Amino acid sequence: MESALDYWSAKALLEWQVELGATEALSEAPIDRYSLQPSAPQKTASNKSRTPEPAVEKPKPVDPVAVARKAAQAASSLPALKEAIAGFEHCGLKRGARNLVFSDGQAGANVMVIGEAPGRDEDLQGKPFVGRAGQMLDRMLTAIGLSRSENVYITNVLPWRPPQNRDPQAEEIAMMMPFLERHVALAQPDFLVLMGNISCQAVLGKRGITRLRGNWDQAWGKPVMPMFHPAFLLRQPHQKRQAWADLLELKARLNRARPTKETN
Ligand code: URA
Repeated sequence: MESALDYWSAKALLEWQVELGATEALSEAPIDRYSLQPSAPQKTASNKSRTPEPAVEKPKPVDPVAVARKAAQAASSLPALKEAIAGFEHCGLKRGARNLVFSDGQAGANVMVIGEAPGRDEDLQGKPFVGRAGQMLDRMLTAIGLSRSENVYITNVLPWRPPQNRDPQAEEIAMMMPFLERHVALAQPDFLVLMGNISCQAVLGKRGITRLRGNWDQAWGKPVMPMFHPAFLLRQPHQKRQAWADLLELKARLNRARPTKETN
């Protein structure tokens, strides 16, 4: 439609509207902007020559606990579980450790000892409890007729040494727990012995070893005996009396469970 206004009339009309306070130029008829097709982006001097970038899909964040659970469940034997742990790349401790520390002792024994994490000696040898704390553990076991060469199986909550033997972090424990749970299921012990606070926190979800020790608990459907960690007993020898009481309680329970195979 041709405009009836000449240039000067239109200019005067516009100036009058601006004087009245008009700040925007609107069309006479409303526009339904929801029904408009989105227009292609305008080419500017800076983007004119660029080729469009391919759409890159953002990688989904990995859930290390879910990865561990899947890997652990797929392991149908202890060697397969060891291999699954060795192939697990989400725990930072692995990169600082010399060796994977999986287990020692007799797979299938009715007592399974669960320690905290490898120290320097264990990291070097790739076996749990082989340093001073390990020698202390061996003496404790011998005192009630048990030994890793005959009737005890040993592992740790964590299979890699934390740097400077620092306490394991909650996320490190959480991502390794599916492997520990599978480890217990495959080793099939009748009794679990938890050494120290970290193991109690990981397996029972409870801390406070002074209160927990010596009292039977339950995990994964098995009786659990929390005890002072052998390394703690080396630092606090006067606590050995309590540890001895706990060992006697373990021995009595083992003898009740298998009266024909009494330990010394
Ligand atoms: N302390 C632990 O808890 N585990 C070991 O293997 C050695 C020391």
